[in-house]
Amino acid sequence: EVKNLEEIFEARIARDEKIEPKDWMPEKYRQTHIRQISQHAHSEIIGMLPEGNWITRAPSLRRKAALLAKVQDEAGHGLYLYSACETLGVSRDELYEQLHSGKAKYSSIFNYPTITWADMGAIGWLVDGAAIINQVPLCNTSFGPYARAMVRVCKEESFHQRQGYEIMLTLCRGTEEQKAMAQDALNRWWWPSLMMLGPTDAESVHTEQSMKWKLKRKSNDELRQQFIDQTVPQADLLGLTIPDPDLKFNEETGHYDFGEIDWDEFWQVVKGHGPCNKERMSARVNAWNNGEWVRDAAMAYAEKNEKRKVA
Ligand code: ACO
Repeated sequence: EVKNLEEIFEARIARDEKIEPKDWMPEKYRQTHIRQISQHAHSEIIGMLPEGNWITRAPSLRRKAALLAKVQDEAGHGLYLYSACETLGVSRDELYEQLHSGKAKYSSIFNYPTITWADMGAIGWLVDGAAIINQVPLCNTSFGPYARAMVRVCKEESFHQRQGYEIMLTLCRGTEEQKAMAQDALNRWWWPSLMMLGPTDAESVHTEQSMKWKLKRKSNDELRQQFIDQTVPQADLLGLTIPDPDLKFNEETGHYDFGEIDWDEFWQVVKGHGPCNKERMSARVNAWNNGEWVRDAAMAYAEKNEKRKVA
């Protein structure tokens, strides 16, 4: 009977139908979605930290309002994605437990420090730029709740990308020191942004199956190339130099060739040895522990109200 169900499922995927939470799905499909959606949710939540670092030091009220809104959006994306993940039969508590115990992965990119204000520009421009390239195809992913979440998330990411690029533009039109600050931020964020899109297709263990299920619609290398092709002209417009001496437009392919990525650095960061992994985890775990009394109070209040209703 499972074979029959599996055939029906495969036929639905072939027809580009959305799979909904109560539909039959292969256990591996469910597990791989829990893996990717929860990693995505954790990334949004941890991703609030590097930028949260600059909210109190934003250079103007306008910059502060925009940054605050962006970080708040990321919290929203995280909660939205946790909800999508819960529809697959995993509880929010389990997901938090996986994050707080260090079992769960989240994006490598958020383990780098934000040293100057220009980092707010570089993150919006590059990190959110890469996120859009990665997430627009996910609006077409086969699992309904994930696909629908991505539509809204992508709209907000687009605002994030623009606010970052505008910070870069302002710095690049400013004093020499400001332009140097923008260049320094690009130097530090460029390579980690390329790594963020995941290992090469040859090293990516999940791509083949995820493409078959239409969870992934584009491979890591395809997304990376698209990101580079889109971003180089934007750097030119800023008058900044991408820190890659091998970067060169290839007339034949119509794409930019680029230098070798330091995959050793990538795996070190993924395994927990990046510059800020420990700091990020302890910030999250402390926030969770320090908020315990709030959760307890909310539960006690809800229970009291429930009892009142019964009485
Ligand atoms: N950081 C940390 N771990 C990573 C990264 C990364 N940048 N890229 C890949 N990995 C991990 C994978 O999670 C996987 O580990 P696992 O088997 O323990 O789960 C392993 O490296 C091998 O990678 P792939 O086989 O390529 O994994 P996958 O097919 O899931 O592709 C990708 C990775 C492209 C990140 C995919 O999961 C995806 O599109 N996720 C949704 C988007 C997302 O999570 N974005 C987070 C940052 S965007 C933002 O928050 C603003």
